[in-house]
Amino acid sequence: MNILVTGGAGFIGSHTVVELIAYGHTPIIVDNLSNSHENVIINIEKIVNQKILFYKQDCRDKQKMDTLFSNHQPDGVIHFAAYKSVSESVDKPLLYWENNSNSLLTLLEMTEKYETPFFVFSSSATVYGDPEELPLKETAPRKPSTNAYGATKQTGEDMLQTLCLTPHSKTKGISLRYFNPIGAHPSGLLGELPLGVPQNLVPFITQTAIGLREKLTVFGTTYPTPDGTCLRDYIHVLDLAQAHIYALTHLTKINSPTYDVYNIGTGKPSSVMEMIQTFEKISGVSLPYVLGPKRQGDVASCYADVSKAKKDLLWQSHFSLQQALIDAWKWQQSLK
Ligand code: NAD
Ligand code: WQD
Repeated sequence: MNILVTGGAGFIGSHTVVELIAYGHTPIIVDNLSNSHENVIINIEKIVNQKILFYKQDCRDKQKMDTLFSNHQPDGVIHFAAYKSVSESVDKPLLYWENNSNSLLTLLEMTEKYETPFFVFSSSATVYGDPEELPLKETAPRKPSTNAYGATKQTGEDMLQTLCLTPHSKTKGISLRYFNPIGAHPSGLLGELPLGVPQNLVPFITQTAIGLREKLTVFGTTYPTPDGTCLRDYIHVLDLAQAHIYALTHLTKINSPTYDVYNIGTGKPSSVMEMIQTFEKISGVSLPYVLGPKRQGDVASCYADVSKAKKDLLWQSHFSLQQALIDAWKWQQSLK
Protein backbone atom coordinates (compact mmCIF):
# COMPACT_ATOMS: atom_id res chain seq x y z
CA MET A 1 0.00 0.00 0.00
CA ASN A 2 1.00 3.65 -0.49
CA ILE A 3 1.14 5.04 3.02
CA LEU A 4 1.41 8.74 3.76
CA VAL A 5 3.59 9.14 6.87
CA THR A 6 3.31 12.61 8.38
CA GLY A 7 6.17 13.40 10.75
CA GLY A 8 8.11 10.60 9.05
CA ALA A 9 11.46 12.28 9.71
CA GLY A 10 10.81 12.22 13.47
CA PHE A 11 11.81 9.65 16.09
CA ILE A 12 8.92 7.19 15.78
CA GLY A 13 8.00 8.09 12.18
CA SER A 14 11.48 7.33 10.79
CA HIS A 15 11.53 3.86 12.36
CA THR A 16 8.02 3.22 11.06
CA VAL A 17 9.09 4.16 7.52
CA VAL A 18 11.85 1.52 7.73
CA GLU A 19 9.35 -1.08 8.92
CA LEU A 20 6.77 -0.15 6.25
CA ILE A 21 9.38 -0.86 3.58
CA ALA A 22 10.37 -4.11 5.27
CA TYR A 23 6.72 -5.20 5.01
CA GLY A 24 6.51 -4.26 1.31
CA HIS A 25 4.65 -0.95 1.57
CA THR A 26 5.57 2.37 -0.08
CA PRO A 27 5.88 5.24 2.38
CA ILE A 28 5.48 8.88 1.38
CA ILE A 29 6.93 11.17 4.02
CA VAL A 30 5.61 14.65 4.78
CA ASP A 31 7.56 16.55 7.42
CA ASN A 32 8.25 20.25 7.93
CA LEU A 33 11.46 19.36 9.83
CA SER A 34 10.38 21.54 12.78
CA ASN A 35 11.73 18.86 15.13
CA SER A 36 13.90 16.74 12.85
CA HIS A 37 16.60 16.92 10.21
CA GLU A 38 16.88 16.15 6.49
CA ASN A 39 19.78 13.77 7.33
CA VAL A 40 17.19 11.40 8.78
CA ILE A 41 15.87 10.80 5.26
CA ILE A 42 19.40 10.02 4.02
CA ASN A 43 19.90 7.59 6.91
CA ILE A 44 16.58 5.85 6.24
CA GLU A 45 17.71 5.45 2.61
CA LYS A 46 20.99 3.89 3.81
CA ILE A 47 19.12 1.35 5.94
CA VAL A 48 16.57 0.35 3.31
CA ASN A 49 18.94 0.80 0.37
CA GLN A 50 16.41 2.66 -1.77
CA LYS A 51 15.20 6.21 -2.44
CA ILE A 52 12.40 7.54 -0.25
CA LEU A 53 9.61 9.88 -1.32
CA PHE A 54 9.96 12.92 0.92
CA TYR A 55 8.09 16.22 0.89
CA LYS A 56 9.35 18.98 3.13
CA GLN A 57 6.00 20.60 3.79
CA ASP A 58 3.61 21.47 6.56
CA CYS A 59 0.57 19.33 7.25
CA ARG A 60 -1.44 22.49 7.87
CA ASP A 61 -0.86 23.68 4.30
CA LYS A 62 -4.17 22.61 2.79
CA GLN A 63 -3.30 23.42 -0.79
CA LYS A 64 -0.05 21.45 -0.76
CA MET A 65 -1.67 18.53 1.06
CA ASP A 66 -4.47 18.50 -1.51
CA THR A 67 -1.94 18.31 -4.35
CA LEU A 68 -0.10 15.52 -2.57
CA PHE A 69 -3.27 13.46 -2.01
CA SER A 70 -4.33 14.07 -5.58
CA ASN A 71 -0.93 12.96 -6.97
CA HIS A 72 -0.37 9.93 -4.73
CA GLN A 73 -3.89 8.77 -3.76
CA PRO A 74 -2.55 7.13 -0.57
CA ASP A 75 -4.22 3.96 0.68
CA GLY A 76 -3.52 4.97 4.24
CA VAL A 77 -2.23 7.70 6.51
CA ILE A 78 -0.11 7.31 9.62
CA HIS A 79 -0.25 10.67 11.34
CA PHE A 80 2.74 11.31 13.61
CA ALA A 81 3.25 15.02 12.93
CA ALA A 82 2.69 16.97 16.14
CA TYR A 83 4.48 18.87 18.87
CA LYS A 84 5.10 16.53 21.79
CA SER A 85 6.57 18.27 24.83
CA VAL A 86 4.22 18.20 27.82
CA SER A 87 6.10 20.99 29.62
CA GLU A 88 6.27 23.24 26.55
CA SER A 89 2.54 22.75 26.07
CA VAL A 90 1.94 24.07 29.59
CA ASP A 91 3.85 27.26 28.67
CA LYS A 92 2.47 27.62 25.14
CA PRO A 93 -0.92 25.87 25.02
CA LEU A 94 -2.17 27.63 21.89
CA LEU A 95 0.92 26.64 19.93
CA TYR A 96 -0.01 23.01 20.67
CA TRP A 97 -3.68 23.42 19.82
CA GLU A 98 -2.79 25.22 16.61
CA ASN A 99 -0.27 22.70 15.30
CA ASN A 100 -1.61 19.42 16.63
CA SER A 101 -5.28 20.04 15.92
CA ASN A 102 -4.98 21.92 12.63
CA SER A 103 -2.54 19.34 11.21
CA LEU A 104 -4.94 16.54 12.05
CA LEU A 105 -7.97 18.46 10.80
CA THR A 106 -6.30 19.12 7.44
CA LEU A 107 -5.32 15.46 7.14
CA LEU A 108 -8.84 14.31 7.96
CA GLU A 109 -10.34 16.72 5.43
CA MET A 110 -8.08 15.28 2.73
CA THR A 111 -8.81 11.75 3.91
CA GLU A 112 -12.53 12.42 3.54
CA LYS A 113 -12.18 14.18 0.18
CA TYR A 114 -10.00 11.46 -1.36
CA GLU A 115 -11.80 8.60 0.44
CA THR A 116 -8.54 7.31 1.91
CA PRO A 117 -9.33 3.86 3.32
CA PHE A 118 -7.10 3.73 6.44
CA PHE A 119 -5.95 6.18 9.11
CA VAL A 120 -3.71 5.51 12.12
CA PHE A 121 -3.33 8.29 14.70
CA SER A 122 -0.45 8.66 17.21
CA SER A 123 -2.09 8.96 20.58
CA SER A 124 -0.55 8.57 23.99
CA ALA A 125 -1.02 6.88 27.35
CA THR A 126 -1.15 10.43 28.65
CA VAL A 127 -4.89 10.44 27.74
CA TYR A 128 -5.51 8.23 30.80
CA GLY A 129 -4.07 10.76 33.28
CA ASP A 130 -3.49 9.25 36.73
CA PRO A 131 -4.72 5.65 36.42
CA GLU A 132 -7.16 4.18 38.91
CA GLU A 133 -6.42 0.58 37.96
CA LEU A 134 -3.28 -1.06 36.64
CA PRO A 135 -2.37 -2.42 34.19
CA LEU A 136 -4.28 0.11 32.09
CA LYS A 137 -6.97 -1.27 29.82
CA GLU A 138 -8.37 0.70 26.89
CA THR A 139 -11.69 0.80 28.77
CA ALA A 140 -10.13 2.92 31.53
CA PRO A 141 -11.59 6.43 31.55
CA ARG A 142 -9.73 9.30 29.92
CA LYS A 143 -9.17 11.94 32.59
CA PRO A 144 -9.39 15.70 31.91
CA SER A 145 -5.87 16.61 30.85
CA THR A 146 -3.73 18.97 32.91
CA ASN A 147 -1.78 20.09 29.83
CA ALA A 148 -2.55 21.14 26.27
CA TYR A 149 -0.47 18.32 24.76
CA GLY A 150 -2.60 15.64 26.41
CA ALA A 151 -5.76 17.53 25.55
CA THR A 152 -4.82 17.61 21.84
CA LYS A 153 -4.39 13.82 21.94
CA GLN A 154 -7.83 13.35 23.48
CA THR A 155 -9.56 15.61 20.96
CA GLY A 156 -7.44 14.10 18.18
CA GLU A 157 -8.85 10.67 19.03
CA ASP A 158 -12.35 12.15 19.04
CA MET A 159 -11.89 13.89 15.68
CA LEU A 160 -10.79 10.66 14.04
CA GLN A 161 -13.56 8.67 15.70
CA THR A 162 -16.31 11.02 14.50
CA LEU A 163 -15.05 10.91 10.93
CA CYS A 164 -14.69 7.11 10.89
CA LEU A 165 -18.10 6.46 12.43
CA THR A 166 -20.23 8.61 10.13
CA PRO A 167 -22.54 6.16 8.31
CA HIS A 168 -21.12 7.01 4.88
CA SER A 169 -17.49 6.97 6.06
CA LYS A 170 -14.93 5.52 3.67
CA THR A 171 -12.15 5.70 6.27
CA LYS A 172 -11.38 3.11 8.93
CA GLY A 173 -9.36 4.40 11.85
CA ILE A 174 -7.26 3.39 14.82
CA SER A 175 -5.67 5.45 17.56
CA LEU A 176 -2.58 3.86 19.05
CA ARG A 177 -1.88 4.93 22.63
CA TYR A 178 1.88 4.69 23.00
CA PHE A 179 3.38 4.19 26.43
CA ASN A 180 7.08 5.20 26.76
CA PRO A 181 8.95 4.76 23.45
CA ILE A 182 12.72 4.38 23.87
CA GLY A 183 15.68 2.87 22.00
CA ALA A 184 16.87 3.41 18.46
CA HIS A 185 17.53 1.58 15.22
CA PRO A 186 20.19 -1.13 15.88
CA SER A 187 22.24 0.25 12.95
CA GLY A 188 22.98 3.39 14.98
CA LEU A 189 21.65 5.46 12.05
CA LEU A 190 18.27 6.51 13.52
CA GLY A 191 17.17 7.56 16.99
CA GLU A 192 15.76 10.29 19.11
CA LEU A 193 17.05 13.86 18.62
CA PRO A 194 15.90 15.90 21.60
CA LEU A 195 16.32 19.67 21.23
CA GLY A 196 18.09 21.22 24.22
CA VAL A 197 17.92 19.54 27.61
CA PRO A 198 16.02 16.25 27.31
CA GLN A 199 12.82 15.97 29.35
CA ASN A 200 12.57 12.21 28.91
CA LEU A 201 14.45 9.75 31.08
CA VAL A 202 16.39 7.67 28.55
CA PRO A 203 17.87 10.52 26.48
CA PHE A 204 18.85 12.18 29.77
CA ILE A 205 20.55 8.96 30.91
CA THR A 206 22.51 8.52 27.67
CA GLN A 207 23.50 12.21 27.52
CA THR A 208 24.72 12.01 31.12
CA ALA A 209 26.65 8.82 30.42
CA ILE A 210 28.44 10.43 27.49
CA GLY A 211 29.29 13.53 29.52
CA LEU A 212 26.88 16.08 28.01
CA ARG A 213 25.00 16.39 31.32
CA GLU A 214 26.61 16.45 34.74
CA LYS A 215 24.18 14.15 36.52
CA LEU A 216 20.72 12.65 36.35
CA THR A 217 18.14 13.66 38.93
CA VAL A 218 15.74 10.90 39.96
CA PHE A 219 12.40 12.68 40.22
CA GLY A 220 10.84 11.38 43.44
CA THR A 221 11.67 8.44 45.70
CA THR A 222 8.57 8.16 47.88
CA TYR A 223 6.02 6.94 45.35
CA PRO A 224 3.88 3.93 46.35
CA THR A 225 6.00 1.58 44.22
CA PRO A 226 8.42 -1.21 45.26
CA ASP A 227 11.52 1.06 45.31
CA GLY A 228 9.76 4.42 45.68
CA THR A 229 10.51 5.61 42.13
CA CYS A 230 7.95 5.84 39.29
CA LEU A 231 6.97 2.83 37.22
CA ARG A 232 6.62 3.15 33.43
CA ASP A 233 6.15 0.87 30.44
CA TYR A 234 9.20 1.43 28.22
CA ILE A 235 8.84 0.05 24.69
CA HIS A 236 11.49 -0.30 21.98
CA VAL A 237 10.72 2.10 19.13
CA LEU A 238 11.02 -0.71 16.56
CA ASP A 239 8.34 -2.73 18.34
CA LEU A 240 6.20 0.39 18.36
CA ALA A 241 6.91 0.99 14.68
CA GLN A 242 5.75 -2.53 13.82
CA ALA A 243 2.48 -1.98 15.66
CA HIS A 244 1.51 0.52 12.95
CA ILE A 245 1.86 -2.07 10.21
CA TYR A 246 -0.22 -4.55 12.21
CA ALA A 247 -2.85 -1.85 12.78
CA LEU A 248 -3.05 -1.14 9.03
CA THR A 249 -3.26 -4.85 8.22
CA HIS A 250 -6.06 -5.25 10.76
CA LEU A 251 -8.03 -2.43 9.16
CA THR A 252 -7.78 -4.06 5.73
CA LYS A 253 -9.73 -7.04 7.12
CA ILE A 254 -12.74 -5.02 8.33
CA ASN A 255 -15.59 -4.37 5.92
CA SER A 256 -17.70 -1.81 7.76
CA PRO A 257 -17.02 1.64 9.24
CA THR A 258 -14.78 1.17 12.23
CA TYR A 259 -12.75 3.06 14.80
CA ASP A 260 -10.84 1.64 17.77
CA VAL A 261 -8.09 2.43 20.28
CA TYR A 262 -5.17 0.21 21.30
CA ASN A 263 -2.53 0.39 24.02
CA ILE A 264 0.95 -0.09 22.62
CA GLY A 265 3.41 -1.03 25.34
CA THR A 266 5.18 -4.09 26.69
CA GLY A 267 2.91 -4.59 29.69
CA LYS A 268 6.02 -4.74 31.90
CA PRO A 269 6.63 -1.92 34.38
CA SER A 270 10.16 -0.69 35.17
CA SER A 271 11.14 1.81 37.84
CA VAL A 272 13.52 4.73 37.37
CA MET A 273 16.08 2.96 39.59
CA GLU A 274 15.76 -0.21 37.49
CA MET A 275 16.37 1.88 34.38
CA ILE A 276 19.56 3.31 35.86
CA GLN A 277 20.81 -0.11 37.00
CA THR A 278 20.01 -1.78 33.68
CA PHE A 279 21.71 1.02 31.78
CA GLU A 280 24.84 0.72 33.95
CA LYS A 281 24.90 -3.03 33.30
CA ILE A 282 24.58 -2.85 29.51
CA SER A 283 26.96 0.09 29.08
CA GLY A 284 29.56 -0.54 31.78
CA VAL A 285 29.25 3.16 32.66
CA SER A 286 28.70 4.24 36.24
CA LEU A 287 25.94 6.84 35.94
CA PRO A 288 26.19 9.94 38.16
CA TYR A 289 22.77 10.57 39.69
CA VAL A 290 21.12 12.25 42.67
CA LEU A 291 17.81 11.59 44.34
CA GLY A 292 15.55 14.62 43.93
CA PRO A 293 12.01 15.82 44.53
CA LYS A 294 8.98 14.71 42.52
CA ARG A 295 8.42 16.36 39.14
CA GLN A 296 5.10 18.18 38.95
CA GLY A 297 2.49 16.29 36.98
CA ASP A 298 4.14 12.84 37.17
CA VAL A 299 1.93 9.88 38.01
CA ALA A 300 3.35 7.12 40.22
CA SER A 301 2.73 4.22 37.85
CA CYS A 302 1.62 3.82 34.27
CA TYR A 303 1.81 0.55 32.35
CA ALA A 304 -0.33 -1.15 29.77
CA ASP A 305 -2.59 -4.11 29.52
CA VAL A 306 -1.64 -5.13 25.99
CA SER A 307 -4.03 -8.04 25.57
CA LYS A 308 -6.38 -6.15 23.20
CA ALA A 309 -3.59 -5.37 20.70
CA LYS A 310 -2.40 -8.96 20.96
CA LYS A 311 -5.88 -10.37 20.29
CA ASP A 312 -7.09 -8.00 17.54
CA LEU A 313 -3.94 -6.71 15.87
CA LEU A 314 -1.94 -9.94 16.42
CA TRP A 315 0.87 -7.65 17.60
CA GLN A 316 3.09 -7.88 20.65
CA SER A 317 6.45 -6.45 21.66
CA HIS A 318 9.59 -8.55 21.27
CA PHE A 319 12.60 -6.46 22.24
CA SER A 320 13.85 -6.56 25.83
CA LEU A 321 14.49 -3.48 27.94
CA GLN A 322 18.21 -4.36 27.80
CA GLN A 323 18.17 -4.32 23.99
CA ALA A 324 16.31 -1.00 23.91
CA LEU A 325 18.95 0.54 26.19
CA ILE A 326 21.81 -1.01 24.17
CA ASP A 327 20.37 0.58 21.02
CA ALA A 328 19.75 3.95 22.72
CA TRP A 329 23.35 3.94 23.97
CA LYS A 330 24.72 3.00 20.55
CA TRP A 331 22.72 5.87 19.02
CA GLN A 332 24.04 8.37 21.60
CA GLN A 333 27.60 7.26 20.88
CA SER A 334 27.09 7.64 17.13
CA LEU A 335 25.93 11.28 17.47
CA LYS A 336 28.60 13.86 16.83
P1 NAD B 1 9.12 13.84 16.82
O1 NAD B 1 9.06 15.27 17.22
O2 NAD B 1 10.44 13.17 16.78
O3 NAD B 1 8.42 13.64 15.39
C1 NAD B 1 7.35 14.45 14.97
C2 NAD B 1 7.70 14.94 13.57
O4 NAD B 1 6.61 15.74 13.09
C3 NAD B 1 8.95 15.83 13.53
O5 NAD B 1 9.83 15.34 12.55
C4 NAD B 1 8.42 17.23 13.16
O6 NAD B 1 9.34 17.93 12.35
C5 NAD B 1 7.13 16.87 12.42
N1 NAD B 1 6.08 17.90 12.47
C6 NAD B 1 5.56 18.54 13.55
N2 NAD B 1 4.59 19.38 13.16
C7 NAD B 1 4.47 19.26 11.82
C8 NAD B 1 3.63 19.86 10.84
N3 NAD B 1 2.71 20.77 11.16
N4 NAD B 1 3.79 19.50 9.54
C9 NAD B 1 4.72 18.58 9.18
N5 NAD B 1 5.55 18.00 10.06
C10 NAD B 1 5.42 18.33 11.36
O7 NAD B 1 8.11 13.05 17.78
P2 NAD B 1 7.96 11.48 18.00
O8 NAD B 1 8.51 11.15 19.34
O9 NAD B 1 8.41 10.75 16.80
O10 NAD B 1 6.38 11.41 18.14
C11 NAD B 1 5.55 11.11 17.03
C12 NAD B 1 4.10 11.16 17.46
O11 NAD B 1 3.90 10.25 18.52
C13 NAD B 1 3.63 12.51 17.98
O12 NAD B 1 2.31 12.72 17.54
C14 NAD B 1 3.67 12.36 19.46
O13 NAD B 1 2.76 13.19 20.13
C15 NAD B 1 3.28 10.90 19.63
N6 NAD B 1 3.77 10.29 20.87
C16 NAD B 1 5.09 10.34 21.17
C17 NAD B 1 5.55 9.78 22.35
C18 NAD B 1 7.01 9.86 22.73
O14 NAD B 1 7.32 9.68 23.92
N7 NAD B 1 7.93 10.10 21.81
C19 NAD B 1 4.65 9.14 23.21
C20 NAD B 1 3.30 9.11 22.87
C21 NAD B 1 2.86 9.68 21.67
C1 WQD C 1 9.83 8.70 32.81
C2 WQD C 1 10.13 8.57 34.29
C3 WQD C 1 10.11 10.65 35.49
C4 WQD C 1 13.60 12.43 33.58
C5 WQD C 1 6.30 11.45 28.84
C6 WQD C 1 5.04 12.19 28.50
C7 WQD C 1 4.04 11.24 27.88
C8 WQD C 1 4.66 10.52 26.67
C9 WQD C 1 5.98 9.89 27.02
C10 WQD C 1 4.11 11.75 24.70
C11 WQD C 1 9.24 9.46 35.15
C12 WQD C 1 11.49 10.03 35.51
C13 WQD C 1 12.59 11.56 33.94
C14 WQD C 1 14.63 12.70 34.53
C15 WQD C 1 13.58 11.19 36.07
N1 WQD C 1 4.94 11.43 25.61
N2 WQD C 1 12.58 10.97 35.16
N3 WQD C 1 14.59 12.05 35.73
O1 WQD C 1 6.77 11.45 31.93
O2 WQD C 1 6.39 8.95 31.70
O3 WQD C 1 5.99 10.42 29.76
O4 WQD C 1 6.84 10.87 27.64
O5 WQD C 1 2.98 11.41 24.56
O6 WQD C 1 2.96 12.01 27.49
O7 WQD C 1 4.50 12.73 29.70
O8 WQD C 1 8.30 10.00 30.48
O9 WQD C 1 10.70 9.87 30.10
O10 WQD C 1 9.73 12.04 30.96
O11 WQD C 1 9.81 10.08 32.46
O12 WQD C 1 13.58 10.66 37.18
O13 WQD C 1 15.54 13.50 34.27
O14 WQD C 1 11.47 9.04 34.53
O15 WQD C 1 9.81 11.22 36.73
O16 WQD C 1 8.96 8.75 36.32
P1 WQD C 1 6.82 10.22 31.10
P2 WQD C 1 9.69 10.55 30.94
